[in-house]
Amino acid sequence: MKDITLNIEKAFGFVSADAVKQYAPKAAECLHMLHEGTGKGNDFLGWLRLPADIEVELDAIEAAAKTLRDKCEVVVVVGIGGSYLGAKAVNEALADSFEWLKKEHKAPIIVYAGQNIGEDYLYELQAMLKTKRFGIISISKSGTTTEPALAFRLLKTQLEEQQGKAAAQELIVCITDKARGALRTLATQEGYKTFVIADNVGGRFSVLSPVGLLPIAAAGFDIRQLVAGALRMQQVCASENFDENPAAQYAAVRNELYKSGKKIEILVNFHPKLHYVSEWWKQLYGESEGKEHRGIFPASVDFTTDLHSMGQWIQDGERTIFETVISVEQMNHEVRVPSNDANLDGLNFLAGKRVDEVNKMAELGTMLAHVDGGVPNLKIELPQLNEYYLGELLYFFEKACGISGYMLGVNPFDQPGVEAYKKNMFALLDKPGYEEASKAIKERLAK
Ligand code: PA5
Repeated sequence: MKDITLNIEKAFGFVSADAVKQYAPKAAECLHMLHEGTGKGNDFLGWLRLPADIEVELDAIEAAAKTLRDKCEVVVVVGIGGSYLGAKAVNEALADSFEWLKKEHKAPIIVYAGQNIGEDYLYELQAMLKTKRFGIISISKSGTTTEPALAFRLLKTQLEEQQGKAAAQELIVCITDKARGALRTLATQEGYKTFVIADNVGGRFSVLSPVGLLPIAAAGFDIRQLVAGALRMQQVCASENFDENPAAQYAAVRNELYKSGKKIEILVNFHPKLHYVSEWWKQLYGESEGKEHRGIFPASVDFTTDLHSMGQWIQDGERTIFETVISVEQMNHEVRVPSNDANLDGLNFLAGKRVDEVNKMAELGTMLAHVDGGVPNLKIELPQLNEYYLGELLYFFEKACGISGYMLGVNPFDQPGVEAYKKNMFALLDKPGYEEASKAIKERLAK
């Protein structure tokens, strides 16, 4: 069976192969720190072995997902950051793009809440749910995050009003800390089914825990295949042989590019279904590496769509970027361009070709143009878009992120910067316990 592959050759016009290879001892050191738990943030390394460790929980996750699938037309996944992005990435990558418009569904439609505080969004969500049999998966590791707590309060109230408290109890699953936080207290009091986010698994590394797996299983996808793919990469990316470890190579080449002045990495896809894989990746790398005034800025584009918006900048703007392309080898469906006698649109040169052949030439043409324009190019190839290879991809990115963060010299597993906005928001909203901060911020704003 094939694996996902990494090709870094198109970076070598910009940094030398030798300079990248020089990272081998450092990569081995970082791997050792991860495997032995001797580096910064070593109390958050549970994700490393999740593909193997989660096996014992799969039956329970699948059973909870089946209950939701049997009883619900819509499941609302409530969470923010690492508590929803992994599930959304996988679900969007695997789902039929127009599933929500179909009359018959094999599984509930999954929608998301708690990752914004948009009043119109919540109003429209609640309005849509009024006529639906819906359930809720409420996810928050801390159990105290405002955005999901607010959305959950609204949706729980609505579900209880629509179905009655007893029925609602069957339709709510909470995923949170084993003991701490308001969500744990609430779930215990209300008697909801719960899953635990282990202490040693941080939010953005939690996609292979119940956090990601329950919403993915609820959407009808094969979490065993996802985990099997991740397990394969757990083995591959454990190797201390630099030439055999794609995560070590990716970490090395991006650190060398960063050192050479490439401060922005753009994750590129050529399939709209992969949009949320990029969103998940941006959070993973942004929150892990953006510290102490250091770190590559993770950006993303969807091609060929964004070639008509960001293409100009990428081709010709400031040369501080590099691209990492996620390329999919085999499509799951076949569409061929029909021939047309009149050829009024001039497209007969494509007649008989698969649409993906056109897309692949766009991909190749773009890569060549961008490399010519001064943009180093890394390529990650997935043999196919399915659960197994997505599992490989997710674990590969996680492992590379841990190595890369250690190479950069930061703690990849904390996120102190996220607290700053919360402190101000709570002060402005007069949250109990924030009296002093409230006074200070109001004085500052009055000046
Ligand atoms: O990666 C992280 O740790 C964060 O993005 C969290 O997932 C996010 O802030 C949500 O936190 P919580 O799950 O505690 O509500």
